[in-house]
Amino acid sequence: MLGILLYCRPGFENDCANEIQDKAGALNVFGFIKTQRQSGYVFYQCYNPEDVLELAKGIDYSQLIFARQMIAVKTFLKALPLQDRITPILDAMRDLPMGGDLYVETPEGDETKPLLTFCRKFTVPLRQALKKQNILTAKENRKKICYHLCFLDNQSTYIGYSLPQNRNEQYMGIMRLRFPSEAPSRSTLKLEEALHTFLTAEEREERFKSGMHAVDLGACPGGWTYQLVRQGMFVSCVDNGAMAQSLMDSGQVKHFMEDGFKFEPERKNIDWLVCDMIEKPKRVAQLMAKWLVEGWCKETIFNLKLPMKKRYQEAQQDIKIITDILEDAGIKYQLQAKQLYHDREEISVHISLLGNVWGKQIGHDQ
Ligand SMILES: C[S@@+](CC[C@H](N)C(=O)[O-])C[C@H]1O[C@@H](n2cnc3c(N)ncnc32)[C@H](O)[C@@H]1O
Repeated sequence: MLGILLYCRPGFENDCANEIQDKAGALNVFGFIKTQRQSGYVFYQCYNPEDVLELAKGIDYSQLIFARQMIAVKTFLKALPLQDRITPILDAMRDLPMGGDLYVETPEGDETKPLLTFCRKFTVPLRQALKKQNILTAKENRKKICYHLCFLDNQSTYIGYSLPQNRNEQYMGIMRLRFPSEAPSRSTLKLEEALHTFLTAEEREERFKSGMHAVDLGACPGGWTYQLVRQGMFVSCVDNGAMAQSLMDSGQVKHFMEDGFKFEPERKNIDWLVCDMIEKPKRVAQLMAKWLVEGWCKETIFNLKLPMKKRYQEAQQDIKIITDILEDAGIKYQLQAKQLYHDREEISVHISLLGNVWGKQIGHDQ
C-alpha cells in the first residue's frame, strides 16, 4: 500500500494536509504530503507501506474536519493505454480484499469537471470486469470495503478502498441536495446537510421533531429557520435584519431584533440552538459553550467562519475553547466538526449533551 488519499474542498488542501499530518503523527506514522493548490485532494504517502492500513483504521473519519473522504491507496497508475485501461487496473486490484461497491471518481474542481462523464461511463465496464474476476460482489454491499478509483486525468488514477463505518458513503464525498424553492436562502442547504451528516435517521426522528423549541442566532433571512419550521418546531429568531414573511406567517416564528451575544431565551430549556452569525469564531465558540453550560439548550449546530489563512489551527483553537469550558463544568458531550460540501470558508459543528439532561437520558453516557 502507498498512502492515504483525502478529498477536500478546493482551496483547503493545506488545512487538510496539516490535519492528516497531525493525526498520523499522533499514531506514530510518518510520511509526506503530495498535493497541488485548488486540486481538491491531498495524498499522504507513508514511508512504510505497512502503516497505510493502520492509518486507515486508526484515524476516525468522522473526526476529520477538512476531509470529505478517506481512502487507503494501493497504487497510482499513470500513462494508462487509451485502448485498454482495464487490464492494468485489474492487475493492480487483483490482490485487494473483496469489494462491495465501486466508485470511479475525480476530485472536485474546475479542471477535473470534464472527467466526470468519463468516470461515469468507465464505471460500467470496470464493474463488470471486477465482478467477472470475483473481486467485486455480484450485488452492491456497503458493509464491505468500497473500491475508489480517483482519476486525475483520463490516463492516471489512484486505486484504493475505503473502509465500512469509517468513510463518507456519498459519491466523491459530496452530499447532493435539492434546493427547496420555498426556502428564503441557499444557506438552508448547510443546515440540511449538517443534520444528515451529524445525526442518523433514527436520531433525527427522535431528536429533531415537531413541537420542539429552537433558537436561531443570526437567522435572517431564514434559510436555517426554514429547516426548523418545516420540521414543525417553534423558533425564536435573533437578528437585526428582516425575516422572510412566509416564515413569519407560519405562526411558529418569533423574531427578536437583538444582538445574538446578549440574547437570553425566555424558555431556558431549548431543544436546539443553531447559529450562523458572521462573527469571530472564538466569540461564537465561547457563546455556544455558554449556552450548553447554562443548560439553555441540549444540542447545537453552528458555523465557525474561517476567513483566515491557518484555518486548521484556528478551528482547533476554537474547538478547544469549547471543550475546555464543557470539561471544566463537568459536562459530558459529543462533538463533531466538518467542512461540509455546502460550507464555504467555514466549518459546521455539532455538539450534543450526553447523559441525564433535564431528567431524560440522552445518547450513550461516556
Ligand atoms: C450568513 S447570515 C445568516 C443566514 C441564515 N442562516 C439563513 O439561512 O438565511 C448571517 C446573519 O448573522 C447576522 N448577525 C451577525 N452578527 C450578529 C449578532 N451579533 N447578533 C445577531 N445577528 C447577527 C447578520 O445580520 C446576518 O443576517
